[in-house]
Amino acid sequence: KSTPQYEVTFVKKNGERIKVTCNEGDSLLDVVLNNNLDFDGYGACGGTLTCSTCHVILKKEDFDRLPDTPTEEENDMLDLAYEYTDTSRLGCQIRITKDLNGLEVCLPSSINDARS
Ligand code: FES
Repeated sequence: KSTPQYEVTFVKKNGERIKVTCNEGDSLLDVVLNNNLDFDGYGACGGTLTCSTCHVILKKEDFDRLPDTPTEEENDMLDLAYEYTDTSRLGCQIRITKDLNGLEVCLPSSINDARS
């Protein structure tokens, strides 16, 4: 039995929409890497919660239905992200499950690599 495939759409600031498929349990960072998406600087720290470049902005209803709330470590990093909003998360901390199939996330127009 193969792993279920879900869909995620990334929306860039310029309005470009990029719809890709992903596997159950992939983080949004995995999704970006596995699909070779060319998002400049995205995921610079490789998901170790030290960069904030994987910042994504969710719709309120999606933010609310995520199974977990950000950990303290994630919030510390989010504080450093540019264009932070009330519905911001770090992509490396969001795992795609059946419930999140069809998720749409916006990318900020600029990123802050907190390590530099
Ligand atoms: Fe660096 Fe998510 S990839 S914090």
